[in-house]
Amino acid sequence: MIGEKIIHLPITSSTNDFLKENWNIFPHGTVVVADVQTAGRGRFNRPWYSPEGGLWFSVLFKPRKNVKPNFYTKLCAVSIVRALKHLKIDAKLKWPNDIYADGKKLAGILTETIFKEEKLVAVIVGVGMNINNDIPEELNTKATSLKLLTNVEYKKLSVLSMILRQINKALKVYSKKPEALTRVWKNLLMQKEGQLVCVRTDDETLKGEIIAINEDSITLRTDRGLTSLTSLEIIGFQT
Ligand code: BTN
Repeated sequence: MIGEKIIHLPITSSTNDFLKENWNIFPHGTVVVADVQTAGRGRFNRPWYSPEGGLWFSVLFKPRKNVKPNFYTKLCAVSIVRALKHLKIDAKLKWPNDIYADGKKLAGILTETIFKEEKLVAVIVGVGMNINNDIPEELNTKATSLKLLTNVEYKKLSVLSMILRQINKALKVYSKKPEALTRVWKNLLMQKEGQLVCVRTDDETLKGEIIAINEDSITLRTDRGLTSLTSLEIIGFQT
């Protein structure tokens, strides 16, 4: 069961790094949660501000054969949205897996993998959710927290256990039907096929219609024709 073993650290560099270093001594489903991270990381290797009051945790999955890493990312993203629904928060996913509420980012996911002799042996899904922590001023217009959204100070470990409950439920349902998970994940995305968007990459902003969305890439029809961009190329969406 996911979360059968929970390691609670007062402080660590990064819960993802902790599991990356120790994945072989802990069982599948181990969760590491830290009160503070001193070197929290986000996607694109961006620093992830992780002070006291936020929920910073990672889940260790040891996949069975033929399970793709992003199965676990989608599983966690969908489970977070479902857990938030119980708190009456209508959250959505910003492609690929950012959790948004009230137009601002509430949580992010960083998935990392470990291969041994070309075999996938561990998937580490790290989640950072702003709960009662302050949001730095420069992020005020972009990020939010549970406290700002609800005026309530939730206990982060209660929120964690709500999320873990949803992950366990979802694992039961979707392990044998990964394509059903993809459908649910797609339905929760803010980006939809047919939508006109501006996509920011490292060196330009592309305007176009979304033709196809999947876990790894988005295909746009721009005035230059069809372009597929991966989640590593897309830095953000502009309105
Ligand atoms: C993102 O949106 O860029 C992903 C942010 C992921 C942050 C979490 S906090 C817990 C775990 N440990 C890390 O160093 N990063 C993830």
